[in-house]
Amino acid sequence: MHEFKYKGNQFYCEKIKIEELAVRFGTPLYVYSYHTLVDHFLKLRNAFRSIKPLICYSVKANSNLAILRALVNIGAGLDIVSGGELYRALKAGCPPQKIVYASVGKTDKEIEEAIRSKILFFNVESAAELENINRIAGRLNRVVQAAIRINPDVEPKTHKYITTGKITNKFGIDFKNAGQMLLLRRAFPNVRLSGLHIHIGSQITESEPYVAAINKTIAFVGALRKKGIKLEYLNIGGGLGIIYNQETPQTAERFAAKILPLLRKSGLKIILEPGRFIAGNAGVLVTRVQYIKNTPKKKFIIVDAGMNDLIRPALYEAYHQVLPLNKSRGALECADVVGPICESGDFFAKERKLPKMKEGDYLAVMSAGAYGFSMSSNYNSRRRAAEVMVLEDRAIVIRKRETYEDLTEKETIPPFLSSI
Ligand code: LLP
Repeated sequence: MHEFKYKGNQFYCEKIKIEELAVRFGTPLYVYSYHTLVDHFLKLRNAFRSIKPLICYSVKANSNLAILRALVNIGAGLDIVSGGELYRALKAGCPPQKIVYASVGKTDKEIEEAIRSKILFFNVESAAELENINRIAGRLNRVVQAAIRINPDVEPKTHKYITTGKITNKFGIDFKNAGQMLLLRRAFPNVRLSGLHIHIGSQITESEPYVAAINKTIAFVGALRKKGIKLEYLNIGGGLGIIYNQETPQTAERFAAKILPLLRKSGLKIILEPGRFIAGNAGVLVTRVQYIKNTPKKKFIIVDAGMNDLIRPALYEAYHQVLPLNKSRGALECADVVGPICESGDFFAKERKLPKMKEGDYLAVMSAGAYGFSMSSNYNSRRRAAEVMVLEDRAIVIRKRETYEDLTEKETIPPFLSSI
């Protein structure tokens, strides 16, 4: 469920006509629905209420401070993957004891900052990283908590670029080596290995891969118990799929019904790390039609947003619904919706049936709340879009559109080049 709907011919976010926002704030424009965001978080929390898990929203999906604060305010923890995300998490007011930190390549500086900030735990992705965390924690005279990220070797049936739990992926540690690390845990006196973490991929629409991964991991927990190794946490990661097109993903309730019995059996405290499930359908990218171009083979609708604003179609050939903000235009036509960037991969939709568009019309690229703005760039020296949060009949700018000055602010022409 989301709060983007037609009322008559006009497309609304909550109680505001999106076209008004496009005119007021300009395009390309990210528009988020506060109520949708919160509703998705609460749906998940409600589905799992019997075990009261810590739900750590995955910051990478959409890291705007207002989005983070909205979720932190209703009890979310945060899942981070970099020093920058730690900075944002703290700035958004997240209690450090609700922050978990994954990533295969944490630097010494990032590790030190996270230790000093007293985060809940690190999700450790290799033996070398464990040694490093132990060394840095020792230097700081601290004992820190860590969970071993397990690579359970399961097939999540999603795009190969967002598959993370197969043994050929760079993520996590296989059961055998994880067992070794736990047996040798006393060699790391500054790290308390207190949990396991799995994250098998993203945009997963079925429960089976989770069931398989959790079952394997719980069997491992049982085997460890027999060896006298007791753990406290099981972090089952994120990855819950959403509807972009014709998908029929599991609902939070159905997902919980499938895995709750397994989680209860583990007797461990549970952590979830959803990103897309919470933010994906809470945002759209609004764009203006710049030109209509007819070629001998095709019709192109050239819009003012590009792959620098939303890279998912270019990177994964991902499907995003594209809807007109005003749908009162009769017969449908087949067209490609493309951006202004100098690459053929710069498209939002191919061979899509849309009402006849003309210059100055607006389109909404749907399901752009997750991995939209957070993956955007300045490619082609394009200023990154503005972001607006809608709360019923109010719209608040939560990130200003970048200026041309922003583009060059960090750059310097060295003195030896300065005489022209
Ligand atoms: N936890 C960890 C350790 C992760 O690596 C991720 C996402 C998540 C949680 C959240 O996953 P989610 O619930 O959002 O599926 N850019 C890609 C998705 C990359 C996901 C990376 N890791 C896309 O646009 O589809």
